[in-house]
Amino acid sequence: VMALKGRDFISLHDWSRDELEEVLSLAQWQKARLKEGIQDEPLKGKQLGMYFAKPSTRTRLSFEVGIQQLGGRGLFLSAEDLQLSRGESIADTARVMSRFLDGIMIRTFAHQDVVELARWATVPVINGLTDEEHPCQVMADLLTIQERFGTLEGIKLAYVGDGNNMAHSLMDGGAKFGMHVTVASPEGYKPDPGRVARAQETAERHGGLVEVLTDPAEAVRGAHVVYTDVWVSMGQEHEAEQRRAAFRGYQVTESLMRLAAPDAIFMHCLPAHRGEEVAAEVIDGPQSAVFDEAENRLHAQKAIMTLIMG
Ligand code: CP
Ligand code: NVA
Repeated sequence: VMALKGRDFISLHDWSRDELEEVLSLAQWQKARLKEGIQDEPLKGKQLGMYFAKPSTRTRLSFEVGIQQLGGRGLFLSAEDLQLSRGESIADTARVMSRFLDGIMIRTFAHQDVVELARWATVPVINGLTDEEHPCQVMADLLTIQERFGTLEGIKLAYVGDGNNMAHSLMDGGAKFGMHVTVASPEGYKPDPGRVARAQETAERHGGLVEVLTDPAEAVRGAHVVYTDVWVSMGQEHEAEQRRAAFRGYQVTESLMRLAAPDAIFMHCLPAHRGEEVAAEVIDGPQSAVFDEAENRLHAQKAIMTLIMG
């Protein structure tokens, strides 16, 4: 077994390919056991704090159900209820939390706040989404792709839309597994150049390719996976109008899907907006994998928690 106990899960960039592979294979095994009705409890008695500064459906459900299935328990901590909202520092909060908890999951705005929390916490910290990254989602996505295609290496994933947290983590994860990741975004909404460069270097070392383009058709041609996400992320509500205008032409439609491989799947981290980033016929059609993908949040995160909190 790899020495992953005590590690933080903040960015896919920080974990090696072998370590991420360990997560995927444990997730696969735990998922199969659960489907057979066998429930192991490797985290019996462990307490996971779940801090949310943004709303959530999937992340909250999957962490709360997941830690319970592992024999532990999850404590939901909303931002407004903590003294953090009245100015208590992240450093003090982290040190106090560490005296009670065996792990901390955090969803917030600034990525740096998660890094800061982890710096002071003496228990593992899991990133449940920041403005810059969503690594747990991508582990669920990789699990889903592996289930559908039997492999990750050489798979082409086209991400169409906002160069946001999802785009960043998909580039990080895809690069590590030797995938071909294309991102098509309009000018002004491309992924962060520093993160693109970092992912491109990683891809080069792992036999993959990361490309940032503007034209969705060019990005999608021959893809096995067509992925999109909302045009207006949490915290960007005030930019909604200008974003909807900027992303016109970036909707994943049936005609765009026809440019992908014949057996291509459609993916979306959810929540989705039908008629904006994706046409209803696509997300509700036979190529859509979105609910398997959502379920896999549970299995991927149980594996992460087992490895770092066990
Ligand atoms: N995909 C995802 O993280 O969903 P929630 O915002 O509902 O947690
Ligand atoms: N990019 C979206 C993802 C939601 C899971 C957001 O940050 O709101």
